[in-house]
Amino acid sequence: MAKVKSAYFCQNCGAQSAKWVGKCSSCSEWNTYVEEIIQAESKSSLPGINKKAGPAAKPKALRDINFEESPRADMRDGELNRVLGGGLVPGSLTLIGGEPGIGKSTLLLQVALNLPNMVTLYISGEESAEQIRMRAERINTIPENLLVMCETDTGNIFNALQDINPDMLIIDSIQTLHSPHAESGPGSISQIRQCTAELMKYAKEGGVPVILVGHITKDGSIAGPKVLEHMVDTVLQFEGDRNHLYRLLRSVKNRFGSTNELGIYEMLGNGLRQVDNPSEVLLSEHEVPVSGIALASTVEGMRPMLIEIQALVSTAVYGTPQRTATGFDTKRLNMLLAVLEKRAGFSLSIRDVFLNITGGLRIEDPAIDLAVVSAVYSSSKDLAIPEGTAFTGEVGLSGEVRAVTRVEQRIREAEKMGLQRIYLSRYNKGLKQSDYKIELVHVAKVEEVFAKLF
Ligand code: TYD
Ligand code: MG
Repeated sequence: MAKVKSAYFCQNCGAQSAKWVGKCSSCSEWNTYVEEIIQAESKSSLPGINKKAGPAAKPKALRDINFEESPRADMRDGELNRVLGGGLVPGSLTLIGGEPGIGKSTLLLQVALNLPNMVTLYISGEESAEQIRMRAERINTIPENLLVMCETDTGNIFNALQDINPDMLIIDSIQTLHSPHAESGPGSISQIRQCTAELMKYAKEGGVPVILVGHITKDGSIAGPKVLEHMVDTVLQFEGDRNHLYRLLRSVKNRFGSTNELGIYEMLGNGLRQVDNPSEVLLSEHEVPVSGIALASTVEGMRPMLIEIQALVSTAVYGTPQRTATGFDTKRLNMLLAVLEKRAGFSLSIRDVFLNITGGLRIEDPAIDLAVVSAVYSSSKDLAIPEGTAFTGEVGLSGEVRAVTRVEQRIREAEKMGLQRIYLSRYNKGLKQSDYKIELVHVAKVEEVFAKLF
């Protein structure tokens, strides 16, 4: 038997070191190294030559390889199906990451409840069976085929799997599992790696889809090493502001589909509701037009939607003006304010600026810049933007309005929501007014936008 020896692993990025170090040289985090037991590698063989190797797979011509597009399992959830690329692939390993309390357990339980024709085994290392039952009561009727097991030892789990032979396996969460084949404690890098490898083997050999819940660290990456993300087929991220109702499900990695997909849910008292038409819910109602509000036509993933940007500009009480942005990058906001200062002759240095994207969404699409500057300008002048106006355009450092991608989709979305006009870059070429009912207002500079608006 090989001699047992140990090494130190960074719990943040998975880097390995022979001795303990205070700062990880690979991810620069402090105090993340923990000793874990590993099996000694056999020293004798030359690198690259494995004397003990079993029968090797032979290289084959790619064109001679037969394949069959295996049918995907319909999750009976349009949003999840979309993000998975059209349903769950048999034998695939899917990881869902998200902050605590965002709704990962709820989502997976709800999916299992909606699939009465599939034998699903839900393994929970975090909640008791009673808690799961209580949650399930709130969501849906409970099908016969849904089995629950509160277990964290993979040995026991595989024993149970042999008897049950489920059509789908859910693990909540991978960080709570431990394998008898790895020595270190649950949640450590070697345990996560070992348990994932075992589950992957199970998924691939039996053709059973496995869904893992993964915790997330404070900087937003999935806790545990990057290897976890490398090992699985699909990584989905469940995100949103816990104080808001909306949740976004994004695919970050997908071996069976595009990563440009986005699913939207609303957290209600009886589970998650699929949001088919995001624009409708993201716009708030105003009786009379108010200043500081602008609508941006954005594309998240492949989905166009209209979102509302709210800005409040007020006189700074203290020396340094405050800049607070929710759902938008503060650095980018500062940049846009500097552009406004320079181009619109507007002194923002003595003003506090607050910016908010409704619904608690985080938007990274640069095409919402134009709506952001318009909302800020509108609030600072206390003049409302005329009703029925949408914006789509990136703003450059010299105040130029830049062309955006998927502009047709953005225009169509604004049109669909019954708006009258959309401001967009003059450099978005090839658009014909006659194709649209909505008025296209082409602009080149932010000054021009304000001159036309107010
Ligand atoms: P949970 O799904 O346990 O989150 P995670 O597994 O990601 O940690 O919890 C989601 C939150 O949603 C929880 O705080 C309670 C709330 N919730 C609802 O608002 N409605 C519901 O129907 C359910 C089941 C939970
Ligand atoms: Mg949970």
